[in-house]
Amino acid sequence: MCGIVGYTGKRNAKDVLITCLRMLEYRGYDSAGIAVVENNKVRVIKSVGKIDNLEQSVSRYDLSTSTIGIGHTRWATHGKVTLENAHPHKVGKVTLVHNGVIENYKEIDEKLNKYEFKSETDSERVCALIDSFYNGHNEIEAIKKATSLLKGSYALGIIFEGNNKLYGIKKDTPLVLGIGTNEYFLASDISAFLKYTKEYIVLDDNEIVEIGNSFNIYYEDKQIYKKIEYTDYDLEEAMKNGYEHYMLKEINEQIDISRKLYSKYINDDNFSDKLIDFSKYKRIDFIGCGSAYNASLIAKYFIDKYCTNANFYCNSYMASEYRYTNHYFDKDVLTVFVSQSGETADTLASLRMCNSEGVDTVAIVNVLTSTMAREAKYVLPMLAGPEICVATTKGYFSQSYICSLLVLNLMYKTGLIDKDKLLSIFDEFKKLPENIEKVINQDYKKVAKSIYKSEDIYYIGRGIDIYSSFEGSLKLKEISYIHSECIGAGELKHGPIALISKDTPVIALLSEFSVAEKTINNINEAKSRGAYVVTIRKESINVDKKLSDCDIVVPLTNEFIQNLLIIIACQLLSYEVAKLRKCDIDKPRNLSKSVTVE
Ligand code: AGP
Repeated sequence: MCGIVGYTGKRNAKDVLITCLRMLEYRGYDSAGIAVVENNKVRVIKSVGKIDNLEQSVSRYDLSTSTIGIGHTRWATHGKVTLENAHPHKVGKVTLVHNGVIENYKEIDEKLNKYEFKSETDSERVCALIDSFYNGHNEIEAIKKATSLLKGSYALGIIFEGNNKLYGIKKDTPLVLGIGTNEYFLASDISAFLKYTKEYIVLDDNEIVEIGNSFNIYYEDKQIYKKIEYTDYDLEEAMKNGYEHYMLKEINEQIDISRKLYSKYINDDNFSDKLIDFSKYKRIDFIGCGSAYNASLIAKYFIDKYCTNANFYCNSYMASEYRYTNHYFDKDVLTVFVSQSGETADTLASLRMCNSEGVDTVAIVNVLTSTMAREAKYVLPMLAGPEICVATTKGYFSQSYICSLLVLNLMYKTGLIDKDKLLSIFDEFKKLPENIEKVINQDYKKVAKSIYKSEDIYYIGRGIDIYSSFEGSLKLKEISYIHSECIGAGELKHGPIALISKDTPVIALLSEFSVAEKTINNINEAKSRGAYVVTIRKESINVDKKLSDCDIVVPLTNEFIQNLLIIIACQLLSYEVAKLRKCDIDKPRNLSKSVTVE
């Protein structure tokens, strides 16, 4: 996902733009650039690779007097990772940065045959299109005319040569205006300018902001006024606080997040009424991508296990499938969208499809200024704080925690569990912070040392351990680049066991007591083919020492909470493996924090 920033005010634009871009590094990128107005001329400086490379290129110019500019981190969609394809793009009098994907850019390209393009990007075509409508003083009109021809998503930061103002417009991709003291910012999200101000305005689709010594917002030719909001996001919270990686910090933050979620959604001896009551519906569709999809499977698992009766049905869908399949909707259907960023394209498109069908929508979301948070009928905040590491840990944890509470709320409302049982489970939620600490304080380095050189690592489990394995395996893949997959333990002998040879690491998750013996038999099958077995188990399940080469034990707790402890062990194991492999843990190759393209 690209990141865009803009600045105008009293400070040196180059310095502010670079600082803001660094705060967006977590989004993932492969090139970066800035454009600043210097002596009424626009200077564009770009580089491939990290922002350090950009800083080096910028240092060759004296940009000390510039106080207005735009910046960009690019995650390649149209066109390879090259200097020409990096943003900002400058065509004629117009210079811009773009986050999003223009779907009809070929059609636009054909309208622009008088232009010679340097890049393969849709963004350069947008720049030329605006320039083609620009007559030297009709900035707002040129932006309106050009963007009215675009199909797809865009957040644009624009400067016009000779006009010392900054412009922004968006559609389907976030853009926020930061409001400081005699200085203004544009950014893809508020974390870019948190260091300078906590006041912001979220722009809505097709609103045009014009920023000079003050700012005006226009919508359909009329000037409009929007409420200035204030974020309580703490910059410290968004920094590393002494941890070597954001990922390790965010894994540790799960201790405090479990407390925040408890006090938000559980009031002493009952659920908070903020927790959506599933019992009012007959069908629940969960929709998400990646880890968010994996988290939603936890809810499906427990509903299937405890709540299936003739007139109640639940399923989990990958958003990229859900949006392109037909669904029956009526007032008895609730759709639940799980998303840390609240901007994932497929999940957002699914939400909009459901909104257009008039069906109730809930967003379980972390970024409360996000599009999903503003468009869903109901919002369940994840309270995880800024998640900087591209690979989610605390985001998944919070999503799974909330999914467990939603099912427990349903079970209690429908009499499937009584008050005493519920209170005993609440007690276990109260103990969760200390249990998380116990899991974190185990030694994962030893296990990691024994498996980090492997090319293939397999997770196996039964019941809910299959769904935890999905997430454990994804974590391993995305930060250590080792091929990993989850195999239902009972499925091993139906083919996948052919993959097991001497020292092939098999990580067995054991939290399902009822089928533990079966899983142990499956571990035996793997062991007898030479597998290197790592067991991650809850205290009450014992495994013969001969079967397990490395054993990690997590505290015993209620089954609605057990998977939260198991997954933290998987997160830490993946972290130590990736560290030994010297991977870029917080910004893995090819990945983006929020996939705002299809
Ligand atoms: C998480 O580790 C992955 N980076 C990815 O699967 C992520 O969960 C997915 O892209 C969904 O993101 P969202 O929660 O912001 O919608």
